[in-house]
Amino acid sequence: MKYENVPATEAEQIQNIIELTRQQLQKRYPDPAKIRRGVHPKDHGCVLASFKVDEDIDQQLRVGLFSKPGAEYPAAIRFSNAATLIGPDSAVKDGKASHGSRGMAIKLVDLDSPKHEGYLPVQDFLMVNHPVFTFANVEDYQVLSQVLLDTFDPTTMTENPLKFIGTQMAKGGDAAERAKRTGELVGRIRAASVAEGAFQEPPAHPAQNSYFSAAPFLFGEGRVMKFRVVPVAEPVTSPPEFVEPDYLRKALKLRLDPSRPGNEPIVFRFGVQVRRIEDIDIDSEIENASTEWTEKKTPFRSIATITILPQDFDSDVAKTRCENIFLTPWHTHPDHRPLGGINRLRQCVYEASMKMRLGK
Ligand code: HEM
Repeated sequence: MKYENVPATEAEQIQNIIELTRQQLQKRYPDPAKIRRGVHPKDHGCVLASFKVDEDIDQQLRVGLFSKPGAEYPAAIRFSNAATLIGPDSAVKDGKASHGSRGMAIKLVDLDSPKHEGYLPVQDFLMVNHPVFTFANVEDYQVLSQVLLDTFDPTTMTENPLKFIGTQMAKGGDAAERAKRTGELVGRIRAASVAEGAFQEPPAHPAQNSYFSAAPFLFGEGRVMKFRVVPVAEPVTSPPEFVEPDYLRKALKLRLDPSRPGNEPIVFRFGVQVRRIEDIDIDSEIENASTEWTEKKTPFRSIATITILPQDFDSDVAKTRCENIFLTPWHTHPDHRPLGGINRLRQCVYEASMKMRLGK
């Protein structure tokens, strides 16, 4: 069955992006500096959790990882900023905050599986806190990668990803249309509040937002999915302290402090939008990662629960583990394999970034 349309030029573009990623990392972290992740280098903490498939999961949704009702997996979760460089969580100028994309990446391990030795992953779920990805396809990501490399300034440790928009607008046609969409999405990601266009209110701590796969994945034979997680009861209790550069880590630490009275576990519901491939326009809905699958047309259905108990995740040992953990959408059950150009690109680029930062 056909799920994807692979452009003829794609393999060459991916090779070029791998090379550009290596060059970016060499420029950002000249020897002997420690090389960090190519994207999402700043974490707010890695926590241990559990991931439990619903006991009463709908028969129709018992696929792959979700085949067994009640199955429970130990999990590790890394919360992060998506920005390519480590900086303040939000930029504050004249009292006004401008935000960035945030990440939540979950690794599930199966301790009982006879197929695996030790703690091999059965599935990683990588998400951002907006329902679509900012760049449509590999062609656009290649332009972005070149822009990041060309605009890097070692004296200020800054890059100017927004030059992507001017570069693409100048080309006109489809490239300009896609760049207009990218500009719109960046505006929404940076916005100070929902009233000003943000996808959701900026969180006071990382577990106050929902997170989305944005890109599509297989859901067994003939069907495809996007997934997301939604916090169950994490109301914004105090105004976020945007002026504090590391406010997200500090707030998460407080929220999970085991000695703080009233700290309940953090709970997320994991949901999927499932569609039949024959109902999908492959070019616009699989191959373009900035196309939203609207909830109105395809509601999310909750099928699992993630629980994070209060814990100390801020020790030196835990921080080192967090730096060394490797999460990629290609750690996957075959029934949930990644789909579309942006996901095909991720396969080799994540490996290249991981090998450079871990010296493998
Ligand atoms: C739907 C699209 C995407 C989502 C939801 C996403 C999400 C994430 C998340 C959450 C992380 C952090 C993982 C961790 O905590 O270790 C991450 C890392 C990373 N992402 Fe993406 N990402 C997307 C697309 C891309 C694309 C198109 C590229 C470029 C090819 C890319 C390059 C990277 C790299 C290089 C890392 C670090 C890998 C490592 O060294 O471990 N991402 N991504």
